[in-house]
Amino acid sequence: MKYNFDKIIDRTNTSSVKYDLRQAIFGKRDVIPMWVADMDFETPGFIRDAVTERAGHPVYGYTFRDLSYYQPIIAWMRSHHDWKIHKDHIVFCPGVVPSLNLMVLAFTKPGDKIIIQAPVYRPFYGAVSDHNRTLVHNQLVEKGTTYHIDFDLLEDQAKDAKMLILCNPHNPVGRCWSLAELEEIARICLKHGVLVLSDEIHADLVMPGFRHQVFANLSPEVAEITATAHAPSKTFNLAGLSTSSMIITNPQLRAAFSQTVEKMHLGMGNLFGSVASTAAYSEGEPWRLQLIDYLNENLNFTEDFINSNIPGLKMFRPEATYMIWLDFRKFRMDDETLKNKLIFEAGLGFNPGTEFGPGGSGFMRMNIACPRLTLTDALIQLQKMLAEISVD
Ligand SMILES: Cc1ncc(COP(=O)(O)O)c(C=O)c1O
Repeated sequence: MKYNFDKIIDRTNTSSVKYDLRQAIFGKRDVIPMWVADMDFETPGFIRDAVTERAGHPVYGYTFRDLSYYQPIIAWMRSHHDWKIHKDHIVFCPGVVPSLNLMVLAFTKPGDKIIIQAPVYRPFYGAVSDHNRTLVHNQLVEKGTTYHIDFDLLEDQAKDAKMLILCNPHNPVGRCWSLAELEEIARICLKHGVLVLSDEIHADLVMPGFRHQVFANLSPEVAEITATAHAPSKTFNLAGLSTSSMIITNPQLRAAFSQTVEKMHLGMGNLFGSVASTAAYSEGEPWRLQLIDYLNENLNFTEDFINSNIPGLKMFRPEATYMIWLDFRKFRMDDETLKNKLIFEAGLGFNPGTEFGPGGSGFMRMNIACPRLTLTDALIQLQKMLAEISVD
């Protein structure tokens, strides 16, 4: 079956964060919203059918997850990531961000050092500082149109750090870390006894030519020090259903994490999230493959458009995720001016790079998971705005 990703869907008045909070976030009701990480495509029909069928039952009482929930996750990890896991390794969480916070609470104490690799997804900062842990910035190094890890710095920082929160693949710089890079991270963390919390929510959104490596699956030793966060939410556009997994093969780590989840009574979760997850992992592959094609075409289109029409704007083409990291520094605007011009002159709602911490100034993150027509309008509006500004 051919799915239609060109279809324009009116998402207004659905309590959509991306659409219905535009006035609150940008101060302008009608910006093209290309910020928060959900997609403007339909959640696939086979998922909606499964949810609708369950919704047809007249009682929405407490539910639990049986093997029919876990089995598709286990099969997906095996077929997509060559990772053999068991039901017992999977701890349900109502979202990846909550699970990152719970991991920090379970395994570190106030004051402990936790490494993150900026510029990075903003909730990583909160997961550390909101619990009075100490942030350690292993800032990524920009090189041409890509980013690298400063391994010397990481080795030095790892000596007295408790945990590394790895974004694998990385949001917002779009890196799908190579085997060699992940092996070097693993070597350093094993040597210095650093726990790795690997956020792999974008693992199934890898572009052609790249391959996702589950960090924990590098070796049994690496698995011992790793907890992996995974979810169907980004891939299948289910973020509103708050359903994710923390996968931990080390029984001691898993027990400590599960206890933290249980103490907070967060293990019950959402009935419809479980139904959607099962449908996604059981039936989702043809849809996912077409999604990747469409996103990759959107990336080609954006790259060609920028190269041909917007001199001075640098695009970091993502190897995974549907986020583009855009470098506006050649236009020599401060962050506030850039943000306001994008909103009020171009009518575009991007995430300011400064949200992602050190290394984000002068950048914007653009979400291209939308129909090509919307993307075309956005790029034309961007071109018009930048045409009036001289380039350095
Ligand atoms: C790296 C990363 N982790 C987690 C999330 C959100 O996870 P959840 O909605 O399950 O809390 C996002 C969403 O953009 C993300 O990019």
